Amino acid sequence: MFRYLSGIQPSGNLHLGNYFGAIREHVRLQEKGDSYYFIADYHALTTVRDAEQLRHFTRETAVTYLACGLDPERSTLFRQSDVPEVCELMWLLLTVTPMSLLEKAHSFKDKTAKGISPDAGLFSYPVLMAADILAQGSHIVPVGKDQKQHVEMTRDIAQKFNQTYNQPVFVIPDIVMGTAPYVPGVDGEKMSKSYKNTLEILGEAKTLEKAVMGIKTDSLPPEAPKDPEQSTIFKLYSLAATPEETDALAARYRAGGLGYGHAKKELFAKLDALCVPFRERAAYWRADPHRVETILQKGAAKARENARFILNNARRACGLG
Ligand code: ADP
Ligand code: TRP
Repeated sequence: MFRYLSGIQPSGNLHLGNYFGAIREHVRLQEKGDSYYFIADYHALTTVRDAEQLRHFTRETAVTYLACGLDPERSTLFRQSDVPEVCELMWLLLTVTPMSLLEKAHSFKDKTAKGISPDAGLFSYPVLMAADILAQGSHIVPVGKDQKQHVEMTRDIAQKFNQTYNQPVFVIPDIVMGTAPYVPGVDGEKMSKSYKNTLEILGEAKTLEKAVMGIKTDSLPPEAPKDPEQSTIFKLYSLAATPEETDALAARYRAGGLGYGHAKKELFAKLDALCVPFRERAAYWRADPHRVETILQKGAAKARENARFILNNARRACGLG
């Protein structure tokens, strides 16, 4: 049976890019195989520098996963820092990782270009991610397009280690991207917690409406025919609507006579309908933090056992202990 694994950083409130690009796929895959999902709090330390804030976003990330349909009976949900074996594994992997591989990372270049301080943690971020993936013997990593290069690096690092020590210690993972690998934000760029252009999954209806009404558009008048493929409103609508509804809206774009204000109202109605049950379930989980913590602890115990086994094989392969 395939093992799926993915993680999300608790570096802010989760948004519809996270939902359509990752969480929706994670929930779907829990029917298909052995699924492991975690809250990447070690990774979040590269940007969140306030302990209370990190704890808050960690709890909220767990609540969001559960509210969006992750079933703790079928999937293993855990907090990355409850599996500290990944840090030791990261060291073993760092010793076979060429500097030149890390220097090519788009995410490092993007983040430093956006003003995040280029420390060694941020630079070696992909190696910790490789450790997360390899420590669980994962076959498939479901993520959005922005993480593709990191999974490719994981493959390179795993192959290098296996070749260096001439043993198949690590499974070589594959990436899988869902139907929405690149969700635009309200400014038309990639939706991201770091770019302040998000539509939050658990935000209030009013906040969501305001954000949707603020989506950037071109200045074509209502009567002008419009290309749906160029429209952020249409792209977001198509993620939440049925194929028939999407085709119908595309036809109205092309025909002319549809103003962006109206299109935004229809988009808001679709997104709000999607998020109402998430908000309700989130309230349920927030009211029971002990149960959430128990789920995370149970998940960590299982993930830790896998990690210990693989770490021991890796230690043995390179002559430690
Ligand atoms: P962010 O960029 O907001 O910090 P993360 O890096 O924590 O998001 O991403 C968590 C998951 O959500 C990853 O699998 C990532 O690929 C996916 N994801 C994030 N933003 C988007 C987006 N705009 N479109 C599609 N997938 C996304
Ligand atoms: N880097 C991922 C992101 O920002 C989060 C992450 C950390 C991850 N470790 C992982 C994703 C392992 C998949 C597998 O989205």
